[in-house]
Amino acid sequence: MRSTFSLSLLAIQVLSSLQFSLGSHENSGHDAHCTLIAKGNGADDSPHFLSAVQTCSKLTIPSFTTLNISTRLNMTGLRDKHIDLQGTLRFNPDIPYWSGNGFPFPFQTQITFWILGGTNIVLDGGGTLDGAGQDWWDAFTTNSSLLRPITMTLFQATDVLVENIKMINSPEWFNLVNEGKNITYRNIQINAVSTSTQRPSNTDGWDIYRSDQVRISDSIINNGDDCVSFKPNSTNIIVSNLDCNGSHGISVGSLGQFPGMFDIVENVTATNIKMTNAENGARIKAWAGPNVGSGIVKNVTFDMFMESNVENPVVIDQVNMTNATACAAFPSNTFLQDIWFTNISGTSRGATVVNLACSPDGRCLDINVNNFKLSAPSPVDFTCQNVNLTGNAAALFPTCTVT
Ligand SMILES: *[C@@H]1O[C@H](CO)[C@@H](O)[C@H](O)[C@H]1NC(C)=O
Ligand SMILES: *[C@@H]1O[C@H](CO)[C@@H](O)[C@H](O)[C@H]1NC(C)=O
Ligand SMILES: *[C@@H]1O[C@H](CO)[C@@H](O)[C@H](O)[C@H]1NC(C)=O
Ligand SMILES: *[C@@H]1O[C@H](CO)[C@@H](O)[C@H](O)[C@H]1NC(C)=O
Ligand SMILES: *[C@@H]1O[C@H](CO)[C@@H](O)[C@H](O)[C@H]1NC(C)=O
Ligand SMILES: *[C@@H]1O[C@H](CO)[C@@H](O)[C@H](O)[C@H]1NC(C)=O
Ligand SMILES: *[C@@H]1O[C@H](CO)[C@@H](O)[C@H](O)[C@H]1NC(C)=O
Ligand SMILES: *[C@@H]1O[C@H](CO)[C@@H](O)[C@H](O)[C@H]1NC(C)=O
Ligand SMILES: *[C@@H]1O[C@H](CO)[C@@H](O)[C@H](O)[C@H]1NC(C)=O
Ligand SMILES: *[C@@H]1O[C@H](CO)[C@@H](O)[C@H](O)[C@H]1NC(C)=O
Ligand SMILES: *[C@@H]1O[C@H](CO)[C@@H](O)[C@H](O)[C@H]1NC(C)=O
Ligand SMILES: *[C@@H]1O[C@H](CO)[C@@H](O)[C@H](O)[C@H]1NC(C)=O
Repeated sequence: MRSTFSLSLLAIQVLSSLQFSLGSHENSGHDAHCTLIAKGNGADDSPHFLSAVQTCSKLTIPSFTTLNISTRLNMTGLRDKHIDLQGTLRFNPDIPYWSGNGFPFPFQTQITFWILGGTNIVLDGGGTLDGAGQDWWDAFTTNSSLLRPITMTLFQATDVLVENIKMINSPEWFNLVNEGKNITYRNIQINAVSTSTQRPSNTDGWDIYRSDQVRISDSIINNGDDCVSFKPNSTNIIVSNLDCNGSHGISVGSLGQFPGMFDIVENVTATNIKMTNAENGARIKAWAGPNVGSGIVKNVTFDMFMESNVENPVVIDQVNMTNATACAAFPSNTFLQDIWFTNISGTSRGATVVNLACSPDGRCLDINVNNFKLSAPSPVDFTCQNVNLTGNAAALFPTCTVT
């Protein structure tokens, strides 16, 4: 039986000498509702955060407390958990510690502070995940091979809801969804702001990898890299009502990077996206050249993009990850099919507002362009190569070059 329980501040103070407080009756077991506050005095709060999540079905971290996360969080294999984060988790920027102990991900050589996995998990409460990224971004200036941790990784997770959470200053990507299914993020506020001259680089909002049925909606993102990125094997995904500022856009890829791998991105819709001060708007990027991988991008829709001051509002790039000679000899083996760019409006920073550059030899099939209202400071330039375009915006393009 589930019982809810609210502790008074006094009760929390009395109970704070315990590792964490059980808010319902003594032997409440997996139905326990607990409250966890920081130990203070420079202590690491990771061990009791881990054990509280193991023990309690619902864990509240009150708004007045900041947990000092100084050692890595392996929270995998959970069942029926509710983390009610009203306060803050701050990831202590102990660079030597995390460099050796962050959980590694071989894909694109990443590490992470926190793996959260299992089934039926809710993370909400209006609180904050603070990646303390400034130290990391600054250290990156003098060590360009420094591995910086992803703030939160959903790892082998199913049926997860992350809602009403703020995330600030991630050292690297804010969110990775790795081997997940049925994952929802709603009302997330992401903000990466550097107080030094070093940019908050690689601070992607979300990266999705080997995951199915992911929804991201109603969120505000201010960062320094992709707003959302669909990496290999992202399927059945809807991204909607996002306000992205300062980013590198909503990106499929890069795909087909690694020899011997086959990358799938299928059934992806990004709709109602406000994209401001960005490098790209809607983008699909795949590798060409010798010794790369292969894959398919199929049924991907970019719809209702409102763009402002964006360098490349619409991009297909199947050519730039190598030089022209190598691209002609080794066209991309990541094929694009059933791609829709619809209702795209706004302004670009330069003359080229749309560049759809496919590899030679029919790598792009059924590419649709409709309802473009894009302007540029100078004459508007729509360019394409190695592709036949369909839709009411196709006439904006000159005959595509063939290489
Ligand atoms: C967090 O914990 C570490 C390890 O105990 C400690 O060195 C650091 O000072 C703590 N940070 C804060 C803000 O208390
Ligand atoms: C996380 O903990 C689980 C359970 O103890 C263990 O099986 C798994 O290997 C750990 N994962 C990592 C990456 O350390
Ligand atoms: C740079 O970062 C890498 C990876 O985190 C680490 O192995 C290396 O020791 C660092 N180099 C310096 C000079 O700190
Ligand atoms: C997906 O997860 C949500 C919880 O976030 C759950 O309510 C829903 O039933 C799940 N859907 C499926 C098809 O399992
Ligand atoms: C949006 O991005 C621009 C350029 O990166 C930045 O100067 C500005 O402060 C950002 N605005 C907000 C509201 O974060
Ligand atoms: C993607 O899924 C396909 C089909 O299941 C599989 O063959 C391929 O190895 C997967 N690719 C990656 C990068 O996981
Ligand atoms: C894409 O959606 C279609 C239609 O719902 C479905 O038949 C197909 O299996 C989906 N593809 C993947 C890879 O899930
Ligand atoms: C295309 O993907 C969307 C989800 O993004 C899905 O709703 C639709 O059924 C898919 N269509 C086909 C033909 O697979
Ligand atoms: C490829 O790179 C060139 C030079 O940097 C650039 O002008 C062009 O826009 C790029 N093409 C695409 C499709 O990104
Ligand atoms: C083009 O790329 C290929 C393969 O990556 C490389 O072998 C070749 O030297 C490059 N050519 C030029 C002109 O850069
Ligand atoms: C979006 O595009 C579709 C089809 O191209 C069109 O029917 C619809 O009216 C457009 N929606 C808006 C809000 O412009
Ligand atoms: C475009 O269509 C023509 C006529 O069907 C075809 O011959 C050509 O190969 C197509 N080009 C590409 C790049 O798909």
